[in-house]
Amino acid sequence: MITLYKIHDMNKRVEKALNDQIEKEASSSQFYLAMASWAETKGLNGTAKFMYLHTDEERFHMLKLIKFVNERGGTAIVPGLEQPPTEFKNLENVFQLLLEHELAVTESINSIVDVCLQEKDYTTHNFIQWYVSEQLEEEALARTILDKVRMIDSDKAGLYMLDRDLENSTIQATIASTSGPGV
Ligand code: FEO
Repeated sequence: MITLYKIHDMNKRVEKALNDQIEKEASSSQFYLAMASWAETKGLNGTAKFMYLHTDEERFHMLKLIKFVNERGGTAIVPGLEQPPTEFKNLENVFQLLLEHELAVTESINSIVDVCLQEKDYTTHNFIQWYVSEQLEEEALARTILDKVRMIDSDKAGLYMLDRDLENSTIQATIASTSGPGV
Protein backbone atom coordinates (compact mmCIF):
# COMPACT_ATOMS: atom_id res chain seq x y z
CA MET A 1 0.00 0.00 0.00
CA ILE A 2 1.25 3.42 -0.92
CA THR A 3 0.87 6.15 1.65
CA LEU A 4 0.75 9.67 0.30
CA TYR A 5 2.37 12.21 2.53
CA LYS A 6 1.77 15.90 2.14
CA ILE A 7 4.80 17.87 3.16
CA HIS A 8 3.50 21.16 4.49
CA ASP A 9 6.33 23.59 4.15
CA MET A 10 4.51 26.80 3.39
CA ASN A 11 4.44 29.40 6.10
CA LYS A 12 0.87 29.72 7.41
CA ARG A 13 0.73 33.51 7.32
CA VAL A 14 2.06 33.55 3.77
CA GLU A 15 -0.39 30.83 2.76
CA LYS A 16 -3.29 32.82 4.19
CA ALA A 17 -2.14 36.01 2.43
CA LEU A 18 -1.87 34.18 -0.89
CA ASN A 19 -5.28 32.57 -0.47
CA ASP A 20 -6.77 35.99 0.26
CA GLN A 21 -5.15 37.21 -2.95
CA ILE A 22 -6.59 34.26 -4.90
CA GLU A 23 -10.02 35.43 -3.76
CA LYS A 24 -9.27 39.01 -4.83
CA GLU A 25 -8.11 37.95 -8.30
CA ALA A 26 -11.22 35.80 -8.72
CA SER A 27 -13.47 38.66 -7.69
CA SER A 28 -11.58 41.05 -10.02
CA SER A 29 -12.24 38.62 -12.85
CA GLN A 30 -15.96 38.56 -12.02
CA PHE A 31 -16.09 42.35 -11.69
CA TYR A 32 -14.51 42.94 -15.10
CA LEU A 33 -16.70 40.27 -16.65
CA ALA A 34 -19.74 42.21 -15.40
CA MET A 35 -18.28 45.37 -16.95
CA ALA A 36 -17.69 43.55 -20.25
CA SER A 37 -21.24 42.31 -20.33
CA TRP A 38 -22.64 45.76 -19.45
CA ALA A 39 -20.56 47.41 -22.20
CA GLU A 40 -21.67 44.82 -24.74
CA THR A 41 -25.33 45.54 -24.04
CA LYS A 42 -24.66 49.28 -24.52
CA GLY A 43 -23.06 48.77 -27.94
CA LEU A 44 -19.63 49.70 -26.55
CA ASN A 45 -17.92 46.86 -28.35
CA GLY A 46 -14.36 48.14 -27.91
CA THR A 47 -14.85 48.51 -24.16
CA ALA A 48 -16.45 45.07 -24.03
CA LYS A 49 -13.50 43.53 -25.87
CA PHE A 50 -11.08 45.27 -23.51
CA MET A 51 -12.95 44.01 -20.43
CA TYR A 52 -13.33 40.46 -21.77
CA LEU A 53 -9.57 40.35 -22.18
CA HIS A 54 -9.12 41.83 -18.72
CA THR A 55 -11.38 39.27 -17.05
CA ASP A 56 -9.24 36.50 -18.57
CA GLU A 57 -6.12 38.20 -17.35
CA GLU A 58 -7.41 38.26 -13.77
CA ARG A 59 -8.27 34.59 -14.01
CA PHE A 60 -4.71 33.96 -15.14
CA HIS A 61 -3.45 35.87 -12.07
CA MET A 62 -5.63 33.65 -9.88
CA LEU A 63 -4.46 30.41 -11.53
CA LYS A 64 -0.81 31.40 -11.21
CA LEU A 65 -1.31 31.87 -7.46
CA ILE A 66 -3.24 28.61 -7.03
CA LYS A 67 -0.49 26.62 -8.72
CA PHE A 68 2.23 28.35 -6.73
CA VAL A 69 0.54 27.71 -3.37
CA ASN A 70 0.00 24.02 -4.17
CA GLU A 71 3.46 23.48 -5.61
CA ARG A 72 5.02 25.00 -2.48
CA GLY A 73 3.25 22.56 -0.18
CA GLY A 74 0.33 24.79 0.76
CA THR A 75 -3.35 24.31 0.00
CA ALA A 76 -4.97 26.73 -2.41
CA ILE A 77 -8.59 27.54 -1.67
CA VAL A 78 -10.84 28.05 -4.67
CA PRO A 79 -13.21 30.86 -3.64
CA GLY A 80 -16.96 31.06 -4.17
CA LEU A 81 -18.44 33.57 -6.58
CA GLU A 82 -19.97 36.81 -5.45
CA GLN A 83 -22.54 38.60 -7.60
CA PRO A 84 -20.91 41.67 -9.19
CA PRO A 85 -22.97 44.76 -10.14
CA THR A 86 -25.08 44.55 -13.29
CA GLU A 87 -25.44 48.27 -13.87
CA PHE A 88 -22.91 51.07 -14.19
CA LYS A 89 -23.69 54.78 -14.52
CA ASN A 90 -21.55 55.43 -17.56
CA LEU A 91 -18.12 54.77 -19.05
CA GLU A 92 -16.38 57.12 -16.64
CA ASN A 93 -17.94 55.24 -13.74
CA VAL A 94 -16.67 51.94 -15.19
CA PHE A 95 -13.08 53.11 -15.54
CA GLN A 96 -13.15 54.94 -12.20
CA LEU A 97 -14.19 51.68 -10.54
CA LEU A 98 -11.54 49.79 -12.49
CA LEU A 99 -8.81 52.15 -11.26
CA GLU A 100 -10.07 52.05 -7.65
CA HIS A 101 -10.17 48.27 -7.83
CA GLU A 102 -6.61 48.06 -9.15
CA LEU A 103 -5.36 50.45 -6.45
CA ALA A 104 -6.88 48.17 -3.82
CA VAL A 105 -5.23 45.14 -5.45
CA THR A 106 -1.86 46.93 -5.42
CA GLU A 107 -2.27 47.59 -1.71
CA SER A 108 -3.02 43.95 -1.15
CA ILE A 109 0.02 42.81 -3.18
CA ASN A 110 2.19 45.19 -1.18
CA SER A 111 0.90 43.69 2.06
CA ILE A 112 1.92 40.22 0.79
CA VAL A 113 5.43 41.59 0.18
CA ASP A 114 5.42 42.78 3.82
CA VAL A 115 4.32 39.39 5.14
CA CYS A 116 6.98 37.61 3.06
CA LEU A 117 9.70 39.83 4.47
CA GLN A 118 8.44 39.47 8.04
CA GLU A 119 8.31 35.69 7.67
CA LYS A 120 11.60 35.54 5.73
CA ASP A 121 9.91 33.69 2.88
CA TYR A 122 12.21 34.87 0.10
CA THR A 123 10.91 32.39 -2.47
CA THR A 124 7.39 33.79 -2.27
CA HIS A 125 8.84 37.28 -2.10
CA ASN A 126 10.59 36.59 -5.40
CA PHE A 127 7.44 35.09 -6.93
CA ILE A 128 5.25 38.03 -5.89
CA GLN A 129 7.54 40.55 -7.63
CA TRP A 130 5.85 39.58 -10.90
CA TYR A 131 2.57 40.88 -9.42
CA VAL A 132 4.25 44.07 -8.20
CA SER A 133 5.34 44.92 -11.77
CA GLU A 134 2.01 43.80 -13.17
CA GLN A 135 0.18 46.22 -10.87
CA LEU A 136 2.32 49.11 -12.06
CA GLU A 137 1.24 48.42 -15.64
CA GLU A 138 -2.39 47.85 -14.78
CA GLU A 139 -2.68 51.04 -12.76
CA ALA A 140 -0.99 53.08 -15.49
CA LEU A 141 -3.32 51.65 -18.13
CA ALA A 142 -6.45 52.29 -16.04
CA ARG A 143 -5.32 55.88 -15.35
CA THR A 144 -4.61 56.57 -19.02
CA ILE A 145 -8.03 55.35 -20.11
CA LEU A 146 -9.82 57.21 -17.30
CA ASP A 147 -8.03 60.43 -18.29
CA LYS A 148 -9.21 59.96 -21.87
CA VAL A 149 -12.79 59.26 -20.79
CA ARG A 150 -12.77 62.45 -18.70
CA MET A 151 -11.27 64.43 -21.56
CA ILE A 152 -14.10 63.59 -23.93
CA ASP A 153 -16.71 64.14 -21.19
CA SER A 154 -20.11 63.50 -22.79
CA ASP A 155 -19.08 64.20 -26.39
CA LYS A 156 -20.63 61.41 -28.46
CA ALA A 157 -18.07 61.52 -31.28
CA GLY A 158 -15.28 61.36 -28.71
CA LEU A 159 -16.93 58.43 -27.01
CA TYR A 160 -17.26 56.63 -30.32
CA MET A 161 -13.57 57.17 -31.07
CA LEU A 162 -12.44 56.12 -27.60
CA ASP A 163 -14.46 52.93 -27.81
CA ARG A 164 -12.91 52.25 -31.21
CA ASP A 165 -9.44 52.98 -29.77
CA LEU A 166 -10.06 50.42 -27.04
CA GLU A 167 -10.30 47.86 -29.81
CA ASN A 168 -6.99 48.92 -31.28
CA SER A 169 -3.97 46.76 -31.03
CA THR A 170 -1.90 48.99 -28.74
CA ILE A 171 -4.15 48.78 -25.71
CA GLN A 172 -5.19 45.21 -26.36
CA ALA A 173 -1.55 44.22 -26.85
CA THR A 174 -0.61 45.82 -23.52
CA ILE A 175 -3.12 43.63 -21.74
CA ALA A 176 -2.25 40.52 -23.75
CA SER A 177 1.45 40.97 -23.05
CA THR A 178 0.85 41.06 -19.30
CA SER A 179 -1.28 37.91 -19.32
CA GLY A 180 1.45 35.55 -20.43
CA PRO A 181 0.98 32.37 -22.42
CA GLY A 182 0.06 30.02 -19.61
CA VAL A 183 0.34 29.27 -15.95
FE1 FEO B 1 -4.78 40.94 -10.94
FE2 FEO B 1 -5.73 43.59 -12.04
O1 FEO B 1 -4.86 42.70 -10.73
